This record gives sequence, structure tokens and C-alpha cells, in this order.
Amino acid sequence: MPDQTTTLLILGASGDLTRRLLLPGLGTLLREEPGRTVRVMGADRVELSQEDWQAKVRDSLAEAEVPQEVAERVVADSTYHRTDLLEKDQLRALLEQTGSPLALYFALPPAVTVKVCVLLEELRVPEGTRLALEKPFGDSLESAQELNRQLLRVVPEGSIFRIDHFLGVSTILNLIGLRFANRLLQPIWTAEHIERVEICYDETLALEGRAGYYDHAGALMDMIQSHLLEILAFFAMEAPATMQPEEIRGLKAQALRAVQPWGHDPTAASRRARYTAGEVEGTQVPDYASEEGVDPERETETLAQLTVQLDNARWSGVPFVLRSGKALGDKAKRVVVVFREPAHTPTGLSPAPGPDRLVLELKPGSVALELSMNAEGDPFDLEQKELAAELGKSRMLPYGEILGAILDGNPLLTIRGDEAEELWRIVEPVYAAWRAGEVPLEEYAAGSDGPGGW
Ligand code: BG6
Repeated sequence: MPDQTTTLLILGASGDLTRRLLLPGLGTLLREEPGRTVRVMGADRVELSQEDWQAKVRDSLAEAEVPQEVAERVVADSTYHRTDLLEKDQLRALLEQTGSPLALYFALPPAVTVKVCVLLEELRVPEGTRLALEKPFGDSLESAQELNRQLLRVVPEGSIFRIDHFLGVSTILNLIGLRFANRLLQPIWTAEHIERVEICYDETLALEGRAGYYDHAGALMDMIQSHLLEILAFFAMEAPATMQPEEIRGLKAQALRAVQPWGHDPTAASRRARYTAGEVEGTQVPDYASEEGVDPERETETLAQLTVQLDNARWSGVPFVLRSGKALGDKAKRVVVVFREPAHTPTGLSPAPGPDRLVLELKPGSVALELSMNAEGDPFDLEQKELAAELGKSRMLPYGEILGAILDGNPLLTIRGDEAEELWRIVEPVYAAWRAGEVPLEEYAAGSDGPGGW
């Protein structure tokens, strides 16, 4: 951990992301690593007094139980700057007040982020400045490429932190330990032993007033194109020799380059649906199409499923089913590995009750290995037994891990430019099939488990 004070300048400091995720994440980081020195600056268009800003920061740090003397030091050093970020002179004046090293966090809508980056190119940022930005990185392959070109005109790739908060989730990072730090799983992590993989993130949450963003994104862009494909990359990548950022990110990009819709047929490989009114966990949820801010004609999907394959030697022929949706009856946030049957089960034993499976629950974290064995009762009857372990709570919020990495200048937990482009390359044919009306928009009642037959 460097002892140099890094300035974290949050652009869009009065917004939802800052309040809900960045400041609480920072709180857990400072609670776990109280020796860090960080100067938190906020900037936005709205009027906010220094006292109000400092109270915001103080509340978040108190909520995270940061030791008081640490919290007071950070609060006392924290400043708010009313700035129209699209006004060049105001942006220049803001930059002049920052220290070095500087991390600029874009807590802004993507379109505004791009415009600010154009101004930053003209103004030039201090050497060593890091840029942190949120998904979506563009809204197509072409716009992702254009965004990358623009970012590179401001800072080099190693200073660009494309944030996917799933990369700060310890149960997802655990895929690296699970795969590469024990003798058992590594040799069987291939198509020879694994029949199919499901990566699922079913949420009970509905729209939550996010129509302005979500109705333009939908489940495919919001979850599959970003988070679930990133999980897939960790799941499927080749073995790294070290945890160096460039090595891990290179291996993830290599895995993503192999991904194609199942059967190279985006129409057959994908499904989409939208929820209608229903009840989720005892609460009435209105029809998605009637929510304020939603344009039903846009046909935004709130549940998406995409089956992909990896055209490489390790994974040839294995379907990876990626699914995520909102307003479902039950939460299911997990990776399920279904193993192939053994080459031969001794004749005379009863048939295995089901395939062996490894279930990695992402939230709360646990790992369970379901194995066929002749465990109890009739010794010639096979049963499925579970070897299970709870994964303890992570030490800090995902945004805490990610902010720590940004302050350290370590891009390991972020998405490299070529990865961001691959993520779009994978889903573009799916969007094309959807736009062409080749995949019907199905319906499911909120609180159900999705359309029948999925
Ligand atoms: C966000 C999506 O990136 O991830 C949300 O925009 C989603 O729609 C969320 O609910 C899920 O992540 P988590 O960590 O809140 O479960």
C-alpha cells in the first residue's frame, strides 16, 4: 500500500453512484486499511456547501465504522467543488486544485463521460493520472472502440480503470483459488470432464426507479454483456503463472476471444422476456411496460438468456448458459458446473441419481460439491451427497476493493480496452437477431421463475 496521498476526484459527486456505492465502498476500505492516505474531492453541477459534502463523507465513513480519528482526518481534507464539468474553463480550474497522483472517477452518465474526456484531452491531465469509469463502455462495438480511442488520447491504457464491480466480489475472485490453488479441480476443468456450465444471476429486485438507465440497457447489456461474461472469463481462462494484472487480463481477453453464440446461431442461442405485474417477496410490482420512464415500444428485456460456446481446445462443445433477470420469484446468483458421467459405473450398483455438480453460490458465498456415492442404507444404492463450505463474509464491499486498487494504481480488478471490445463483439449478433424480430419478447409475471419452458 503506497504511503503517498492520492487525490480521488469524484466527478458527479452529488449522484446516486457516489452515495450508494463509492462512499460506502471507501468507508469499508478505510476501515480495513486505516493507514491509507486519500484526499477525497467531489465535483458536480449542483450547489452543495462544504459542510454538506463533508457531512455526506462523514456519514458514509461512520456507517462503515471507520476509526474516528481516521474518518476525521479524511473528512477535514475533503472538499466539494461546484463545477459544470462540460465547461472547459471550470474543468481546468478544478484540475488546478488537485494533487498528484490523481484518480478521476467518472460517476457520470456515459455520454457525459465521453464529453468530459474530450475536454480532458484538450486540457491535458497531470502525468500519472488514472481514469476510472463505469459500464456500459459504449453501447456497441463501434462506440466502445471510439471510447477507447478517446480515453487513450488522455492517458495510457495502464491508467484506465474500466470498472465492473463484480471483479471486486470475493466469491467471484474465488474462482481463481478454486481452480488453480488445489490439486483436485484443475485437471478436470476441461470439456472432457465438464458437460455444461450455468452462470445465473436472477434478482428479485425490479426496476427500482432506474428507468432512465435500464430501459436503454436491458438485462443483456446490464448483466450478461458485462458481469456474467466477466465471470465466464475467470471461469474459462488458462492457468496464470502470476497474479500480475497484465497476465490475468491477457488470459481473460484470450478466453473472451473464443466466445461465440452457441452453434454460431444468435437466434437459437438467445431468449428474452419482460415482466408483467405480479408480487415479489410480498410486494406488488407493476407491469414493467407501465413504469414511469419506460417506453414499451423499446421492447427492453428484463430477463435474458444467452448460451455461448468457446471455440478453443479446452472448452469445445461445452455450453455455457448465461442468464439474468429482474423481478423473479427467487434469487439465484450462482455458477453451476455439471460434470460428465463417469466412464463406467460398476455393474450391479444402482444408477447414479444425477450428475455430479459443483455449485458456487455468489451471494452469500458458498461452494458445494454434489457427488454420487454409496453413502448410507443399502451399500449398493447410489446417493448424491454434498460436500459444502460456507465462504465467510468479504472484508470489504466490492467498491472498497476496487477503489483500493485504483488508489494503488493496480488495474488487476478492472477491464482492459480489448476485453471491453470483445464483450460487445460477443453480443452484437444477438442484438442484431433481436432487432430483426427473430427472437420473440416473451412475458413472465413478476415473482414467477420466468416464462414457462425456459
Ligand atoms: C449492476 C446492475 O451493475 O449490478 C444492476 O446495473 C444489478 O441492475 C447489479 O442489480 C447487481 O449487482 P449486485 O452486486 O448489486 O448484486
